[in-house]
Amino acid sequence: MILVVDCCIRGELSATKRIYESCMGAVAKGAQTEILKLCDENISPLTAEDIVLRDRLTQEGSTEHTLMKYALRFRDADEIVIAAPYWDLSFPSLLKVYLERVSVSGITFGYEGSDCVGYCKAKRLFYFSACGGFTGGRHYGAEYVQALGRMFGINEFHSYTVEGLDIDPSKRESILENGIRNIIDEINSL
Ligand SMILES: Cc1cc2nc3c(=O)[nH]c(=O)nc-3n(C[C@H](O)[C@H](O)[C@H](O)COP(=O)(O)O)c2cc1C
Repeated sequence: MILVVDCCIRGELSATKRIYESCMGAVAKGAQTEILKLCDENISPLTAEDIVLRDRLTQEGSTEHTLMKYALRFRDADEIVIAAPYWDLSFPSLLKVYLERVSVSGITFGYEGSDCVGYCKAKRLFYFSACGGFTGGRHYGAEYVQALGRMFGINEFHSYTVEGLDIDPSKRESILENGIRNIIDEINSL
C-alpha cells in the first residue's frame, strides 16, 4: 500500500495536486494507493495534554488510541508520497502538524541505546511540490522531509518541484506540462 499524503490546500486549483496525480502511475506502477487528504482531517497542533497522554500510551505499549493512528499508517506503508505546495520557503503548516503526529517514539522511530533507529517499512519517500518563484536550490521543506524520513528509516528520497509557475501567467500551463513530463521521465528512469 502506497500512502499518499495530500497537503494541497488549494484543492482543485492546486498545481501540486496536478503534479502528483499525473505522476502516481509512474510511482505506483499498479500498486494500491491510499490518499490521506490533510485538509479533510481534523488535525491540530499537539497540546501539553496530548503529549502527556501520548507518553503514557507509549510506555504502556498501547497503540489503539486515535493519537497513534497517523504514526501507525505511516510506519506500515510500503511507500510514501507527500505532496505539498512551496510556501514560505518550505510547506504549509498543516503538513508540520501532521508530521508531529507521525513522529511517535516507539512507533515510527525509537532509541536503541543511544542510537536513533527508524521503524518505518517504506523504502522510498517521494516529495512533490509546485513553486511560484524559484527555490534557488534550497527547498527547506523537502530537505526537512528528507531528514525526517531518514530518522524514520526511509533512506531513499526523491523530490520533484516545478518552479516559476507564478512569474508569467501566459507561461504557467506550458511550464507545468513540461515539468510534469520531465518528472515522469525521471521517475521512470529510477
Ligand atoms: C501562503 C503562500 C506562501 C507562498 N510562499 C512562496 C515562497 O516562499 N516562494 C515562492 O516562490 N512562492 C511562494 N508561493 C507561491 C506558490 O509556491 C505557488 O503559487 C504554487 O503554485 C502553489 O502551489 P499550489 O498551486 O499547489 O497551491 C506562496 C504561495 C502562498 C499561497
